[in-house]
Amino acid sequence: MEGRPEGGGNADKYIVLGVTGSIAAYKAPLLVRAIRDAEIGVKVVMTDAARQFITPLALEIVSENQVLWDNFQSPLSHIKLAGNAAAMIIAPATLNTISKFSTAIADNLLTTIFMAFHGPVIIAPAMNWRMYENPIFKDRLAYLKDKGVIEVPPERGTLACGEEGVGRMASVGRILHTLLRTLGSGDMKGLKVVVSSGPTREYIDPVRFITNKSSGKMGHALARSASLRGAIVTLISGPTSLLPPEDIEVIRVETSAGMQRAVLEKSKDADIVVMAAAVCDFRPERFSPGKLSRTESFNLSLNKTTDILAEVSSQRGTLKTPYITGFAAETGDRKDRAREKLHSKGIDMIVFNDVTAKGAGFDSDTNVMSVITREDELFIPEMPKGDGANRIFDIILRETGRGCS
Ligand SMILES: Cc1cc2nc3c(=O)[nH]c(=O)nc-3n(C[C@H](O)[C@H](O)[C@H](O)COP(=O)(O)O)c2cc1C
Repeated sequence: MEGRPEGGGNADKYIVLGVTGSIAAYKAPLLVRAIRDAEIGVKVVMTDAARQFITPLALEIVSENQVLWDNFQSPLSHIKLAGNAAAMIIAPATLNTISKFSTAIADNLLTTIFMAFHGPVIIAPAMNWRMYENPIFKDRLAYLKDKGVIEVPPERGTLACGEEGVGRMASVGRILHTLLRTLGSGDMKGLKVVVSSGPTREYIDPVRFITNKSSGKMGHALARSASLRGAIVTLISGPTSLLPPEDIEVIRVETSAGMQRAVLEKSKDADIVVMAAAVCDFRPERFSPGKLSRTESFNLSLNKTTDILAEVSSQRGTLKTPYITGFAAETGDRKDRAREKLHSKGIDMIVFNDVTAKGAGFDSDTNVMSVITREDELFIPEMPKGDGANRIFDIILRETGRGCS
């Protein structure tokens, strides 16, 4: 590929993407694009069979790197690529290539690089469900996983052959999430984190409810951040149109009562609880089981809902003692109210945000926050909610003695 610039994505960090001979190879360019969007360069290596399904040219264009498939195309490429890559992903990974990996066969460029590579390897199998269920293959796959190879398991669905079963390659989002988690700091590895997110709905009758403007973006960003840093995350989410982050347990709730049940249950053995949900403070005093007619006029009386943060805080010590963070969404500079909540609810940290401030607020992609602990106060200036979520966990880790900064 003379004359074409090398090093798409971040030139310093690249992964080797192995593409093998499955019909799912048509998804490889989308995966390359997603990895590059995460600012990681991609160097593609194909098998001969893969070139029957997709052209090297397509992958060369999206990766902006030379695509290799032959050991003799670029001498010593197997050593050079293996030496400097941050990780290897094989997607799609055929039964044939996975089995070769597990028996140390190096008969093409991809299998040779695999044998020379000592970093993390992620495989995304794609095949007919009967092949995936084959007991000999299952043994080979288990052996590889035992040696540290990370599998992004295939999903159930209609397969290329028209049959239904488990064998469809995992989504691009899941493969990317696994890569980012693998390359992440791992500083939250093993920690159990519960995040609540989104609004709640409090029903007036079966079709009408009161709610608030929360989009769930901050809570979802927190869940994703903790997961990418290695935590075992449970996201308890009120109604939102957001797709949940990959590979985390999601519990969907609708009302403040549902949120309360799920949060109390999941917090029992959590290390960190972050309550980013905008739980309705009030619910209708009476629920009408039949739809109210517009001919009836009525007054809406509201009662306070349970203070979930205070409840979680009061159950501390029964099993574990989680570090509890609450969010205080206020209009205007009411840090005083946030600080008061920190003390009255007996929690460890409160994140204050003025939802009317520029660059902050419910549906915004950015946030501006003040993190208030019992001894300290830190300002997080306007930044994407994902970066803000990372800052919050940096502070939590430092407060709990796990962080280094
Ligand atoms: C149309 C077609 C589709 C195929 N799809 C798959 C597949 O999804 N998964 C798989 O493991 N093998 C599949 N195969 C078989 C592989 O292409 C074959 O085992 C090949 O030797 C794999 O070589 P490779 O692992 O070097 O890419 C398919 C073969 C054909 C002809």
